[in-house]
This record gives sequence, structure tokens and C-alpha cells, in this order.
Amino acid sequence: MSTVAGGLEHGSEPVQRVRPLWWQEDERGCALMLLDQTLLPQQVVYSRLEDERQVAEAIKTLKVRGAPAIGMAAAFGLVLALRRLLAERGDEASLAEVLARLEEAGVLLAATRPTAVNLSWAIRRLLGCARQLAGAGCRPGDLGRRLLEEAQAIAAEDRAACLCMGRYGEALIADGDQLLTHCNTGILATAGWGTALAPMYLAHRAGKRIHVFVDETRPVLQGARLTAWELQQEGVPFTLITDNMAGYFMRRGQIAAVFVGADRIAANGDVANKIGTYSLAVLAQAHGIPFYVVAPCSTIDLDLPSGEEIPLEQRDPREVTAIRGVSIAPDGISVANPAFDVTPHTYISAIITERGVARAPYSVALRGLCADDHHP
Ligand code: MRU
Repeated sequence: MSTVAGGLEHGSEPVQRVRPLWWQEDERGCALMLLDQTLLPQQVVYSRLEDERQVAEAIKTLKVRGAPAIGMAAAFGLVLALRRLLAERGDEASLAEVLARLEEAGVLLAATRPTAVNLSWAIRRLLGCARQLAGAGCRPGDLGRRLLEEAQAIAAEDRAACLCMGRYGEALIADGDQLLTHCNTGILATAGWGTALAPMYLAHRAGKRIHVFVDETRPVLQGARLTAWELQQEGVPFTLITDNMAGYFMRRGQIAAVFVGADRIAANGDVANKIGTYSLAVLAQAHGIPFYVVAPCSTIDLDLPSGEEIPLEQRDPREVTAIRGVSIAPDGISVANPAFDVTPHTYISAIITERGVARAPYSVALRGLCADDHHP
């Protein structure tokens, strides 16, 4: 266990003292190191994950969470699956066995959380890469190294994407703006500045006097536990509010814009994001407040025509009936716990990506942004 302080370096990227995950190779072998987000902010504890089953468990239990971060974790999980096979079979391992092990690990990891498309996107990307290398006759050991490079490339691209999204989003923030955000979309959810928090970090660093209203984000409290922790460490002024206070502050004219992330964006611009996002979007429209979604292109799923088709994760009711193990409701009651909701594109002022800002009609704008993407 270690305690660290966050911070942004003098350049344009977050200091790497706080990272949700990284790859480590040392005398004990290779591992995915993960900041256990279920223990924040009280404890800063890093877990060492040495195989893909531990990675799958960490994603399922929200030790790592946030769409880009779970995609990265799954990519490194596949590398661990291959390393495990090579440790078991050594030079005996055939390319067919390698591919079979990777496919199996891909199924395991993809089944952990259904909504964020970054997860299956990263898995598809690594499996596509493995098939291509196997087809070219690459030796299993070399294939392992190449897959690690691919996983690291996903992380590097995400870091760069955060900076670009931050710059596009920052241009929409004026000096003195008070902003509202939901869930956690920052350093803890990505390899860089974050998605919806990136514009706020950049605006703050540019000297704009912003103030962020942070929704606590029940039931798992990603806002209260994670976003508040991040913003506090970076010195960004903020106020924590409960989810049901947003309308109060909007009606008083205290919110200039809402910035949220996304777990999956359908071809028509409908957005799945943390439960409560839809209510905020409706409130924002009722008050004439811009509602911005910030997400990398890896979150866009052009295969789904609309938000209707996005699978929405239903989580354990105990997340609602207990907080940190303390029961807050009677036993034996009926409880619902959808982890995400869908915001129809008509409520969204703009979708900010690393390749530019998309506005309605989204079906045209999003296709334009993703035109050059290769789908493995
Ligand atoms: O359940 P979580 O914590 O993984 O949900 C995260 C969100 O909904 C985020 O808003 C989304 O993943 C975008 S994060 C950069």
C-alpha cells in the first residue's frame, strides 16, 4: 500500500503519480498494477494483477472503472493471458493454442461489463492484431511482445486523446463559468486528463476562474469519492452536491454548462452514460443550459443505430441498499439498480471528441469523425 499525491506537471499532461493502471515488469515477473478505486478516497492501494481472471474480477467489482480505463485493463489482461500460456507451455505452445487462449480470455473479459464499448473495442483490437501476427507466422514469444506494444499503444493514444478533447472542450468554457459534472471522467477513468474533466483541468490551468459542481453519483458515489478527490488534488475549485440538487442550482442560474462522459455513443448520437445523466440532460434543456458529452472515438459504436440497442448493465441491488457495507434500507425490499441510462441526442448540444466537436445532425457528424477507422 502506498499513499500518493496527485498533480499536473508543468507541461500539458497529468503527472503520473496518480494513474489508474500501468504495466510492470520486475523480478517477480509481469503484472498489471491497478489503483483500487473501491477504496478511494480513504485508502490509496495498488493491486498487482498477474492473470486475466484477476483483471476480469477487478473490472466487474469496479476496482478499475470508466470506459477508457476498462478498455485498457482488458487489453493488458489479454497480454497476461498469453504470458500465462507461454509460462505453462513454453516453446511447445502452438499458434493455434495462442489464439484459442486469447479468444477465451477475450470472452471472459468482455463479459464483465456490457455497456462501455471501449471494452470490446480494445479486445477486438488486440485479437485482430494477434490473428494478423499469427497469419504472418510470428512466433508465440514475439507475438506476446507485439501484443504488449499494442496494449501500450492503446494507453498512449488515450492519453493523447484526452489532451485533444480537453483543448476542444476548454474552448467552450469562459472565465468565471460554473460547470456541472456527473460520475468520474478524469485521471482515474483514463490514461490522461480524462474526458469530461479534461476541459475543466485545462481551463483551470489556463487561468480561467471556473467552479465545478460535482454530483455525488449514487449509488457507487464516483462523484463524491473519485471526482472530488481528483479535483481537490489538482486545486480546481468545486462544490459537492447530491444528485437531486442539480435542478436547484440550474434554476438559480448558477450552472453555465454541463459536461459528462460516455460509455457508448450510438450512430445517431444517443449516449449511454452513468445513471442520472439523462435526468441532467432534460434539466439542462429545460433551463437552456448547454449539455456537452466528451468521449474519445473509441466510445462511438456506429454498429448501433440508436441508443435503444445499447445494452445497459444492471448491477447488484446491494449497491443501493448499503453504503460501504452499512445497510440503509429495510431487508427484503424490491430494488432496481441500472448502472447507466441513455440520453437521446436531441438533448445534447455537442459531442466533443479528440478529432473535433460533433454537432447535430450527429448521424452525419459522427460518421465523418470515424470515417478513417479500421474495424478489425
Ligand atoms: O460505472 P462506471 O464508474 O464505470 O461509469 C463510468 C461512467 O459512466 C463515465 O461517465 C464514463 O465511463 C466515461 S469515463 C471517461
